[in-house]
Amino acid sequence: MVVKRHFLTHVVPGMVLAKAIQTENQILIPEGTILTEDHIQLLRSSGFAKIEILEVQIDQVESLPVEFTIAYQQIVQAVRQLFMQVRYFQMFRLKDFKQILDWWAEPVLHSARLLNYLNWVSREEDYVFRHSANVAIINGLLGKWMGLHPFVQQELVLTGLLHDIGKAQIPLEILNKPGRLEEKEMELMKSHAEAGFDLLNRTNGISSDVLLGVAQHHERIDGSGYPLGLPAVNIHLYAKITAVADCYDAMTSDRSYYKRRTPFSVMEVLHTEMFSKLDPTVCSVFMSRVKNLFIGAMVLLSDGRQAEVVLLGSHAAMRPTVRTKDGQFIDLEKNQELFIVALSN
Ligand SMILES: [Fe+2]
Repeated sequence: MVVKRHFLTHVVPGMVLAKAIQTENQILIPEGTILTEDHIQLLRSSGFAKIEILEVQIDQVESLPVEFTIAYQQIVQAVRQLFMQVRYFQMFRLKDFKQILDWWAEPVLHSARLLNYLNWVSREEDYVFRHSANVAIINGLLGKWMGLHPFVQQELVLTGLLHDIGKAQIPLEILNKPGRLEEKEMELMKSHAEAGFDLLNRTNGISSDVLLGVAQHHERIDGSGYPLGLPAVNIHLYAKITAVADCYDAMTSDRSYYKRRTPFSVMEVLHTEMFSKLDPTVCSVFMSRVKNLFIGAMVLLSDGRQAEVVLLGSHAAMRPTVRTKDGQFIDLEKNQELFIVALSN
């Protein structure tokens, strides 16, 4: 595995970072990250001149389709405006979102590779806005995969966009606090589910299903969730779907205090959580669809080699059988010293 120092001007999206980029007390970009345009912008604006790059050739880097990039930025921008309106005017106009719901019908979203694209967009910056956009997209996909009516799919997208809107009423110093929250701050943070419900309850045109989806997205089927600790039978389907999308996206995202996991390791967590906390039907649909996306995916192994996923393990998506560039098959369930550090497309 060769590590080379590159001038930032020579760095392009798709290169793999050999050494974490950090400031005095914070990791900006973790080691092994496949760089995107957003990362490179961040490095530029932070004044980095040279960085260390792993010399692995990722041939099949797929650039994001332009329609997706534009539509995604529009969603993030719309969510940002929504949060601003709520923070400063305590209200928002539902009609501003109509455009996004129409966009959901566009064919670009109906691509199975959509979930892969979400792995390519950097999310540390503007986390809440990007997270809301991602949960909306995953909610819509889940609705489609579960065979729900197109109207319900749209309602699920809206639930995803609005699920954390209560956070617009949390003081910014708590919302953006790096590191762990104190107990009192955590309590305040948890109030976002109820705050979201109260706000939407005062807004015209929101269905009671979306209201319940937002109010209950942190409820868990074993009764351990909040705000009410409801049992499974009392949790609305929209909330059960949003909970899966929320968990998946939060775990695959870069946070200042939380190192992003690969989708493979997130699948493992979903598998262990599905029987106790998340709805098993929603989880099963999600996992079976997402697993199929992994077949043929290019991954980066912990020894620096690039490989293609050819066969998934019995239940452990995290340890599939892969084929390296030189044609060697490696069963990661049997070779525990190796693991997948990143997905490369
Ligand atoms: Fe939330």
